[in-house]
Amino acid sequence: MNRILITSALPYINGIKHLGNLAGSMLPADIIARFERLRANEVLYICATDEHGTPAELAAASAGQSVRAYCDEQFEVQRRACEGFDLSFDHFGRSSNAPNAQLTQHFADVLEDNGLIEERVSEQVYSLDDKRFLPDRYVEGTCPHCSYEKARGDQCDDCGRILDPVDLIEPYSTISGSKKLEVRETRHLFLRQSKMQTRVRTWVESATDWPPLARSIALKWLDEGLQDRAITRDLSWGIPVLRHGKPRPGFENKVFYVWFDAPIEYIGATQEHTEACGENWESWWRTDKGADDVTYVQFMGKDNVAFHTVSFPITLLGSGEPWKTVDKLKAFNWVTWYGGKFSTSQNRGIFMDQALELAPSDLWRWHLMANAPESADAAFTLEHFQSTVNKDLADVLGNFVNRITRFATSKMDGAVPGGGTPGALENELSAQLQTRLIALTGYYEAMEFRKAMAETRAIWAMGNEYLAEAAPWTTLKTDTDAAALSVRTGLNLVAIAAIIAQPVIPQAAAKILDALSVPEENRNWPEATDASLLSALPIGLKFTPPDVLFTKITDEDVTEWGEQFGAEC
Ligand code: MF3
Ligand code: ZN
Repeated sequence: MNRILITSALPYINGIKHLGNLAGSMLPADIIARFERLRANEVLYICATDEHGTPAELAAASAGQSVRAYCDEQFEVQRRACEGFDLSFDHFGRSSNAPNAQLTQHFADVLEDNGLIEERVSEQVYSLDDKRFLPDRYVEGTCPHCSYEKARGDQCDDCGRILDPVDLIEPYSTISGSKKLEVRETRHLFLRQSKMQTRVRTWVESATDWPPLARSIALKWLDEGLQDRAITRDLSWGIPVLRHGKPRPGFENKVFYVWFDAPIEYIGATQEHTEACGENWESWWRTDKGADDVTYVQFMGKDNVAFHTVSFPITLLGSGEPWKTVDKLKAFNWVTWYGGKFSTSQNRGIFMDQALELAPSDLWRWHLMANAPESADAAFTLEHFQSTVNKDLADVLGNFVNRITRFATSKMDGAVPGGGTPGALENELSAQLQTRLIALTGYYEAMEFRKAMAETRAIWAMGNEYLAEAAPWTTLKTDTDAAALSVRTGLNLVAIAAIIAQPVIPQAAAKILDALSVPEENRNWPEATDASLLSALPIGLKFTPPDVLFTKITDEDVTEWGEQFGAEC
C-alpha cells in the first residue's frame, strides 16, 4: 500500500469558481484521488479556501459585511458546490483557521533565524481617500509606453509591458476612482529568494517526475533569476506578523501576504483534518516522522506553477526543517469560454453552482476531463459539451449497459446466465481488454487525462462491438448456450466498464454497479492480468437494469443555455 498526499490549488474565497478553474485543479485531483483509493492506496486529498488578501477585504466591504462573516458565508457556498461536483476531499479547510496562522508565523520565524528574511523599506502608492496602500493592480492610469488609458499598475494589458505603478500617468485608485494618490514609504519583511537560487535549482533538477509543463515553467523562472519578494502587506485582514510569538514592532497594522500563507494551508488543512480524527498530521508532512514514504502530488493552473515550484519550496527548504516537498506536479492550461475569458461581471461563462442546475455533475466531469487543457488551452463550447456527453456517455456507455441488461432481463430472467464456453471471440476480447487496461492504468499514473478518458471510452466501446459480433438476440434462437455465454460476458464487461468509470463519473458508475449487485469489495481497480475479469459475476446473480443513466442534451438546451450564459454562437 502506498501513501499518497494530494492537494489542489486553493480556490480564492471571493466568487464561485467557473468550469475552467474546476478543470484545472480540483477535478483532476479528485479523479486521481479516486483512482488511487480504488487501488487500495492510502490517500489524503486536501483542499481549502484561500481567504486572505485585498480582494476578500474589498468583496466583503461591497457586500456590507465583516470580512469574517463574508468568508464564513462564501466558504459554505464553495463547500456546497464542491460537494455537488462529488469532489471527494478528505478535508476542505480554510486558510483563515488557526493552524495556518501558527504554521505561517513559525515559518517566518525560522526563515528569519536562517537569515532568509529581512526588513526593508519600500515605496508604495497610498490612496488618501481609500485610506490604504494600494496593491499594484488596484492602481490604473495611462501607460507611459503606449498611452493606453486603463493600464494596470503591474502591467499594461494593451502593450503587455510590465509596469511599476509609479510610472503611470494620471494614476487613480480602482477602488474609489480617487486621484488623490501619493507615494509613501512602508516597511516590509522580504524573503531573500535570491539566496536560495542554487538550492531550488538543484531541487527542481532532481525532480524527474514532473510533467513537462510544470518543469518548463519552473526552469524559466530560475533562468530569469529569483527576486527577493515582500511577504507582508499593509492590510488588516490576514495573519498577524509576529516575531517569536510577540507582536513585531512597526508591523502592528500589517499581515502576511496571501501568497505566503496560502500554500502553507496545505499543511494547516492537514492539521485541521487530523485533529478532528485523531490521526498524526506529521506522518504526511515531516520526513522525520514517516512522510518520507509519502508521494505528494499537486494540481494547479499554469499561473500557479511558479508559486509551487519556487516560492513554496523556498519556504519549506529554507526552514532547514525536514518538510515534505512535492513529488509530482500536474499543471493545466486554461479552459476558455468560446475562446475568451470567463467573467462573472460580463455574464460570460458557466460557474460551478450554475452548472449543477443544468446537468448532473458526471456530465461536466466527463466533458472537462475528456477535453482537459493539457497541451494547450481548450475552448469550452456548449455545442462541444453536447456532442461529447451525448456520444460518449449516452450512445456508447449508456447504450451498451441498456442493451445488454434489458436483453438479459427479458430473455434470461434477470440473472447472470450459466452455460457455454468462451471461444475465439471471447479470447480476443479478453486480450484486447488486457492491453487497454494496462494502457489506461499507465495514463492515470502519468496523469494524462485526455488519454485516460480516450482509453476509458475505448473500453466502453468494446462492449458495443462485442455485442454486435456475438449477437445473442440471433443465437438465442438456435444455440442457447452461445447466447448465454455472450450475455454473461457482456454483463461482466458492463461491470468492468463501470469499475473503470468510477474515478471520473462516480454517480453513474455506482448506479450501474448497484444495479448489477457488485459488492463494494469487488469494485476495486482491475488487474489487467486477472484471468477471471470476464467471468467475475457469479452465475445466477440477480440484477435489475439501471434507470436511465444519461439524459441527452438537446439542441434546445444548447440554445437556451447559450442565451443565458453569453455564448458567442
Ligand atoms: N488562490 C490561488 C488561485 O486561485 C491559488 C492558491 S494555491 C495555494 O490562484 F495553495 F498555494 F495557495
Ligand atoms: Zn502600454
